[in-house]
Amino acid sequence: MSLANRPDIISFAGGMPGNELFPVEDVKEIINNLSPQQWVDAMQYGPTAGYPPLIEAIKAWLKGKGFPVETNQVIITTGSLQALNITSKIFIDPEDTVLVENPSFIGAISAFRSYQAKIKGVAIDADGIVIDELKKELDTTNPKFLYIMPNFHNPAGLIYSSQRREELLTAMANTNIPIVEDDAYGELLFDDDYKKDIVPLKCRAQNEQQIIYCGSFSKIFGPGLRLGYMLVPNEIFRNAEICKQSMDACTPCISQVLAHQFMISGRMQRYIDHIRPIYKKRRDFMLETLQRYLPKEATFVRPHGGFYIWVKMPQGVDETELLKLVIDAGAVFVVGATFDPDEQPNGHIRISYCNTPDEQIEKGIKIIGDTMKRLMAR
Ligand SMILES: Cc1ncc(COP(=O)(O)O)c(C=O)c1O
Repeated sequence: MSLANRPDIISFAGGMPGNELFPVEDVKEIINNLSPQQWVDAMQYGPTAGYPPLIEAIKAWLKGKGFPVETNQVIITTGSLQALNITSKIFIDPEDTVLVENPSFIGAISAFRSYQAKIKGVAIDADGIVIDELKKELDTTNPKFLYIMPNFHNPAGLIYSSQRREELLTAMANTNIPIVEDDAYGELLFDDDYKKDIVPLKCRAQNEQQIIYCGSFSKIFGPGLRLGYMLVPNEIFRNAEICKQSMDACTPCISQVLAHQFMISGRMQRYIDHIRPIYKKRRDFMLETLQRYLPKEATFVRPHGGFYIWVKMPQGVDETELLKLVIDAGAVFVVGATFDPDEQPNGHIRISYCNTPDEQIEKGIKIIGDTMKRLMAR
């Protein structure tokens, strides 16, 4: 993060929204029009589960997308990272096993580890988690939950196919093992052909299947607000509320009041419609640049949304050595081992295009490509 924020380094490392894209004018307008009561709500402590009008707005939003809001409950969290911490606090005792995809989101791995979980990685392929591998782990470990990112995976950039989603639900049915479904990038689909695939597991599952769905405002409003939410079955809701109470009593009410107005005024949908094509363009430019500057032996798949491209190293290129040389030349990315639960090298790097202007993308990817070619020529 310190390298990613250095002005002299071109960063493909962070997962941050574009600095120039934040809806600052919307926020100013909302603030200027808050009523005296809304100001009190914004400045006062609020209910642990969340500011009731925001809960209602989120429920209406989710209902419109086919989520089972009548049989589940929403709890607002301080970023979706808190949802992962709450889930850990509910389910994990020291030495318990948690299943994650390999690779997986480093923030989640760290959260589970901080509750002293043993983290077991399950392989993924182009369609999602590998079901046979998952079944093996279900048979041999006794996991407390399975954590997955079926949409716009961080770091692998993939989306689960509809078929894989159904196979996963079937494999998990009757196990009583909850699925934690992280959908932090869910609104950032670029290629409409995949609309049917990205329907979350939470919308597809039978009601008795325990799915903890985690959403976030970070990529569709601003991570500085620290706002996320969980949609969970009733039994989990009660425990989640107790856990959250001791963590922060409530999520900052000022963020919740702003998000409520952002949603109900229609600004949030307009904002999503505005940023989607901008990120799509950035993705396209990044793909084009990778094709232009990387050796053809470096391979990658086209992400259909989200922030990341997962690049497979050419034979003979060590990603850690590559990183050192690339930093010296003025750019930075993240090595794949960061996302491996056992921190093993996996011959991949993660490159993000979310917060890098085009001219910097071009310059930075040229540095990475030239350095790769130099290493291959040794
Ligand atoms: C997959 C995933 N989940 C959760 C988060 C955390 O998001 P939040 O800012 O809502 O805590 C991130 C942040 O980058 C992420 O990539």
